[in-house]
Amino acid sequence: MEQEKRGQWTSNFGFLMAAIGSAVGLGNIWGFPYKMGANGGFIFLIIYLAMVSFVGIATMLGELTLGRKYGMGVIGTYRKISEKYTWIGWLGWFSGFLILSFYSVLGGFTLRYFIGFLLELFSSGAGFGGADSGAFFGGFILNAPMSILFHALFMATTVYIVMGGISGGIEKFSAIAMPTLFVMLVIVVIRSITLEGSFVGLEFMFKPDFESLKEIGLMRVLKTAAGQMFFSLSLGMGCMITYGSYLSKKENLEWNATLIPIADTAIATLSALAVLPAVGAFIYQGVEGVSFGAGPGLLFVTLHRVFSVGMGGAMGNFFGAFFYFLVFIAAVTSSISLLEVCTAYLIDRRVEKGLEPNRKKITLIMGTVIFFLGFPVAMDGLGAGKAGGALIDIPATIFGMQEVRVAFDCWLDFYDMIAEGVFMPLGAMLMSIIIGWKLKTTIIKDEVEESPGIKMKAYNFWDICFKYIVPVAMFFVLLGQLDDFFGLGIF
Ligand code: TRP
Repeated sequence: MEQEKRGQWTSNFGFLMAAIGSAVGLGNIWGFPYKMGANGGFIFLIIYLAMVSFVGIATMLGELTLGRKYGMGVIGTYRKISEKYTWIGWLGWFSGFLILSFYSVLGGFTLRYFIGFLLELFSSGAGFGGADSGAFFGGFILNAPMSILFHALFMATTVYIVMGGISGGIEKFSAIAMPTLFVMLVIVVIRSITLEGSFVGLEFMFKPDFESLKEIGLMRVLKTAAGQMFFSLSLGMGCMITYGSYLSKKENLEWNATLIPIADTAIATLSALAVLPAVGAFIYQGVEGVSFGAGPGLLFVTLHRVFSVGMGGAMGNFFGAFFYFLVFIAAVTSSISLLEVCTAYLIDRRVEKGLEPNRKKITLIMGTVIFFLGFPVAMDGLGAGKAGGALIDIPATIFGMQEVRVAFDCWLDFYDMIAEGVFMPLGAMLMSIIIGWKLKTTIIKDEVEESPGIKMKAYNFWDICFKYIVPVAMFFVLLGQLDDFFGLGIF
């Protein structure tokens, strides 16, 4: 009865599309290609695969299983395990607000670029006003009303889909969007690797680069891979707990938990093949201002140039529109999962009290709160807006050991530090410890085997993951993130 009110996936395929949709997002298309290239190429890929195999899949299994077992969102699930763990649920819930508020601003950027290239297709100069890609981006992010407008459009799309409910909104959208996205991505990959000089990008990606590995240090590369894996799989804040809570008892959790990370990793690799060979090709062809840069520059400035100057003409505009639309779709299927985490808690509370869920109203309220939370992110031009100096800058001495600098260049970094830097690794670490040591891994086995005819296949492996591998890996992610943000100089 309660389950009926909360909603359920209509099929395992629909669930998979929604969960893979959550995982596949800006992290895959933007973060992964660059991080792979800059952190040892092929070696990074191998390390990343190991991280997914030994940490990612188990964490995914843990989240999905807890969600299905307790049939609640992230706060309800931890509360049901024990009142004294409720606060871990709150960490995840709160992270949802923070991440979505900046994710939506970035998602708005992708929408702006899609519309820009679409307009250019019809009339030259209509989309980007004839500005150079760097100048356009610089102007756009400093134009606060514009950023807010597109942030609003992105958020409205997200709210609209989540309002439709689990099967009627999220599942329906993802079941169409994800296969479409896959086909589009393959088309972009083919275009990208057939450009003259694409081998420069392929080399950047795949060549085992021991030199840069040595330079960066293995620990740092490990940390980067772990952090990336974690964000890319939507783990650590209860997204997958929430999605698991809508899964029918019929479905095979162990298999689903394995398939989602495999699909996410495959799409991350494809994304790298879509982006880097195109960038490499135009470096080879000597197009000015194209490089394997990092951060917002890669997705917006460099790729804008790749399409507008490198490819140029109608073809450039067409592929530009095509590509940014694809990125937009990938971002939406992720943002709906973030909003659902926030929404589910309030729905759970109402359903528990025997009230109507009131999904539409709750979703609208949550969406509005997050929209406003995103204002500072949309308004500070990613740090380019301020007149020198950091947003927050507190030099401090910790334990009298060394000078530590607590500095954030922009609000995005600040939000990200709290959520991705602290709350999420902490959440994943605690979840794993609770499963491995407190509830014992048998709780996972029992729930997996609730499904008729299904036997758990790799119990011993999961047991080792929950008890040792995941907690240790998460501890390092936590340490690594704090190190990055506070400049502690550990790694
Ligand atoms: N995984 C998504 C990406 O790669 C982002 C995302 C969605 C996410 N839900 C999440 C990240 C939950 C962390 C936690 O872009």
